[in-house]
Amino acid sequence: MSKKPKDGVGPWAKEKLDALGEYLGFYTKVLKNQGWWCKGTIYVDAFAGPGRSKVRTKAKAAPEIGLFDSEPETDAEAVAYLKGSPRVALDIENPFTRYVFIERNPERVAELEALKEEYGDSRRIVVRPGDAATELQAILDSGIDWKHYRAVIFVDPFGMHIPWSTLEALAKTGAIEVFVNFPLGMAIQRFLVRSGDIREN
Ligand SMILES: C[S@@+](CC[C@H](N)C(=O)[O-])C[C@H]1O[C@@H](n2cnc3c(N)ncnc32)[C@H](O)[C@@H]1O
Repeated sequence: MSKKPKDGVGPWAKEKLDALGEYLGFYTKVLKNQGWWCKGTIYVDAFAGPGRSKVRTKAKAAPEIGLFDSEPETDAEAVAYLKGSPRVALDIENPFTRYVFIERNPERVAELEALKEEYGDSRRIVVRPGDAATELQAILDSGIDWKHYRAVIFVDPFGMHIPWSTLEALAKTGAIEVFVNFPLGMAIQRFLVRSGDIREN
C-alpha cells in the first residue's frame, strides 16, 4: 500500500530558510552602496511554494486524567507555521529592487498572488505561474542588462526539476548567484546504482 504524502514541511526546513535569509541579508547589504553601476538587484524564487508552510513536529499530547493509572501516551502533530522562502526574501532588512516568484501549482500561485497584495507597493513583485526552467529561460531572454543588474536565484525543487543547461545559462551571465537546495535524499540517491554506471542525464 502506498503512503499518502504528508502535508507541510519537516522541521529541517527552518535551517534551510534561516540560511537563505542570512545569505540574502548579506548579499543586499553588500550591494546597496555599490554606486552607479548597480541599477538594481533581483531575487528569483524558481520553486517558490505557497509563501507559508505548516511544519510537522511530533509533540506529546497532554496526558488525559483518566480512571486508570496506565493511560497510554499519545503522539500528536503540533501545528506551527513557518515563513516560506518568498516571505523570507521579502522581509530582509535591505530588500531587493525586484522579486520574481515562479510556481507551477495553481493553488500556490493563488497564495503568492495574495502575498503580492499583502505587500502592496512596498515591494515590486511579479508572480510567474509555470515551469521553473521555462520561466528562467524567459527571464534570461527578456533583455536584462546584466552589466548593471545583479540577481540571486533560489532553486529549491522537490526532485530533479531543473536541467543542467538552465543552470549553465544562468552562470553565463556572470551576474547571477544561484543558491541550490540540493535534493540529495529526495532525488540523487534514488538515481545512484551500485554498479556506479550513472546515466549522463
Ligand atoms: C520544496 S517546495 C518550495 C519551498 C519553498 N522554496 C520554501 O522554502 O518555502 C517546491 C515547490 O516547487 C513547485 N514545483 C514543482 N515543480 C515545479 C516546476 N517544474 N516549476 C515550478 N515550480 C515547481 C511545487 O509546487 C512546490 O511548491
